[in-house]
Amino acid sequence: MAEIAVGIDLGTSNSCVAVVRGGSIDVLPNGYGEATTASVVAFKPDGAIAVGNSAKANIIHDPRNTIYSSKRLIGRYYFSEEVKKAKAVCAYKIVEAENHSIRIKVGDELFSLPEIAAMTLREMKSIAEARIGQPVNKVVITVPANFNDNQRQATKDAGRVAGLEVLRILNEPTAAALAYGFGKGLQQRVAVYDLGGGTFDISVLEIGQDVFEVLSTCGDTFLGGDDFDDRIIDLLADEFSSRHGVNLRNDPYALEKLKVAAEAAKQALSIESEVEIRIPDVIHSDEGQTLSIERTLSSEEFTSLVNDLIQRSFKVCDEALQQAGVLARDLDGVILVGGPTRLPIIREAVTTYFQQEPQADVDPDQVVAMGAAIHAASLVNEDRTAYLLDVTPLSLRVGVAGGLAESVIECNTPVPIEQMRTFTTFQDFQESVKIRVYQGESRQAEENELLGQFEFSGFKKVPRGEVAIDISFAINADGIVNVVAQDRETGKRASATITLSSGLSDLELKSIMEQGRMERVEAIATDDAGDALAPPPPDPRTDVVMIGAVDLVKVSRADLGLVEKGAPVLDERGAGDPGDEAEPEPVLEIVPSDEFIPPDEASNDILKMTDCDDEEKLDLAETAPGQGETDASAGDFFEAPGTNLFDPDPSEDEQKD
Ligand SMILES: Nc1ncnc2c1ncn2[C@@H]1O[C@H](COP(=O)(O)OP(=O)(O)OP(=O)(O)O)[C@@H](O)[C@H]1O
Ligand SMILES: [Mg+2]
Repeated sequence: MAEIAVGIDLGTSNSCVAVVRGGSIDVLPNGYGEATTASVVAFKPDGAIAVGNSAKANIIHDPRNTIYSSKRLIGRYYFSEEVKKAKAVCAYKIVEAENHSIRIKVGDELFSLPEIAAMTLREMKSIAEARIGQPVNKVVITVPANFNDNQRQATKDAGRVAGLEVLRILNEPTAAALAYGFGKGLQQRVAVYDLGGGTFDISVLEIGQDVFEVLSTCGDTFLGGDDFDDRIIDLLADEFSSRHGVNLRNDPYALEKLKVAAEAAKQALSIESEVEIRIPDVIHSDEGQTLSIERTLSSEEFTSLVNDLIQRSFKVCDEALQQAGVLARDLDGVILVGGPTRLPIIREAVTTYFQQEPQADVDPDQVVAMGAAIHAASLVNEDRTAYLLDVTPLSLRVGVAGGLAESVIECNTPVPIEQMRTFTTFQDFQESVKIRVYQGESRQAEENELLGQFEFSGFKKVPRGEVAIDISFAINADGIVNVVAQDRETGKRASATITLSSGLSDLELKSIMEQGRMERVEAIATDDAGDALAPPPPDPRTDVVMIGAVDLVKVSRADLGLVEKGAPVLDERGAGDPGDEAEPEPVLEIVPSDEFIPPDEASNDILKMTDCDDEEKLDLAETAPGQGETDASAGDFFEAPGTNLFDPDPSEDEQKD
């Protein structure tokens, strides 16, 4: 029997599972016959855990113990803006744990975010097993394109906790393009406009005969259908407050009722031009009187409430088109993904912006899972006939003095990619350095996501500038980052394990799995009557779409003959072919003595770059993988200007702006 691997679109609001079998792509419906299942987990008083649509129905009765939109929190630090925002609107308890990670507190128990996501993944796995009629252990899981490393790692952890082998983490828009274009012999440039529950992503892709190449991808993790709901909630709550002097936001039950009503109204506006909002008994007044909400909401009023959100999405589109070097009118197609794209106001705005109607034959709720399934099938299938070239959505940076972060791998560089840069010590006889790794687009370190930090020590006690430390930064096909530091002289390598904000070490993961809390998840994948899903009868269709296999493998554009096709884009993006002519060796510069910090004022935790301009610095740093380890002599380093120094003093602020 052919090995089965499914694709799961693990969404903020809804998840979807699909599989490729017998040459067709099937979305596997849940027990209610629905293609998507709510990504909601409800903890019941008796300790049982419900997942999916029945859990969603629980929100209104028991908001404190029903976890929804948790994807907005996965892989984030407790102090991040997103977490603050969620704490303000969610009735469930979000608490801080070790390493500034977060946990959801339910009763006396603490659950990590990967564990919550694992419950949804397990439900999807069960649906797949019931529908396919055999165990399912392998999966491709999709994530928003702009998920950072922490969020990807945490999603992978979730897969493991759910008992799945995660073959690949795939970007949602890339998956959508794959489902749209694969096997059709298209030669097109398309944009995937993905507005989901919690995030917005836009990707520009080139679909060729056998190659799917992402030209650019941009996104906003603060923009989705939930924000549209919030606008309606604010409208209702503000009106209620001025009428009755009661703030409904302070009552979790009332707030959940508002949420349910707001979402229902929004969805109704995708087919109606006006909706009636009625929430009887939304709250009791101090005098014990029951108070209700009743009002109509027109499409026009709704548009005025959310128009700025829609326009914000187009700012992100501008950026993506610019990075891809494509004009909106030059695109051959626009693919809409995500529930809110069913709204006529979104479709109209998209049509205006892109100067063309979006593709009508793509199901915005299923296309991502379908693409993941195609990719999953290819990874367990030896017949690889096409390639998928993805890019890293966020720049990878290293912290340097003055609270700045220098870019090492630019955003939109094709992955997998490896880059090496060389650094040295700032202080005489300095024994250790702390390397901070960030992801994001800001030169201000604190405006980026800190992926983690690690210390490298034990190099020779020599005058400053005489230690050469090669740090290689690698991003694999899942978009996951690995950083390794090596002392060039001794060959010693740093244990460069980045502490992730998912906060789960291997040990913790093991302990979670041993606790067996997953076993408390209620009989799942059942039908309306509560019976287990029977495998569906064999597919009687004869007109199935034959698809080949796609593989996201380690290929360079040159491997695919893409270099001849046009400009040497790889080089422009800083992803030079290792076989290219040798790039200039990284060089160091001795920092002027007035920048020297006395040892007693110093700590060792910041990397220092010198005052060379950006371009120069990047040129200096970008060597082919491994090149610096073998070709360079330490002597070369000290002769040329421009340097990367480990700065022992984080307070020092003599850097360039
Ligand atoms: N017919 C509709 N009209 C408007 N909005 C809708 C409709 N159907 C669903 N939505 C909204 O779509 C959002 C969920 O979209 P979707 O299921 O695509 O998100 P997701 O995949 O879970 O999220 P993400 O992709 O951000 O992780 C919710 O805000 C929901 O209210
Ligand atoms: Mg989605």
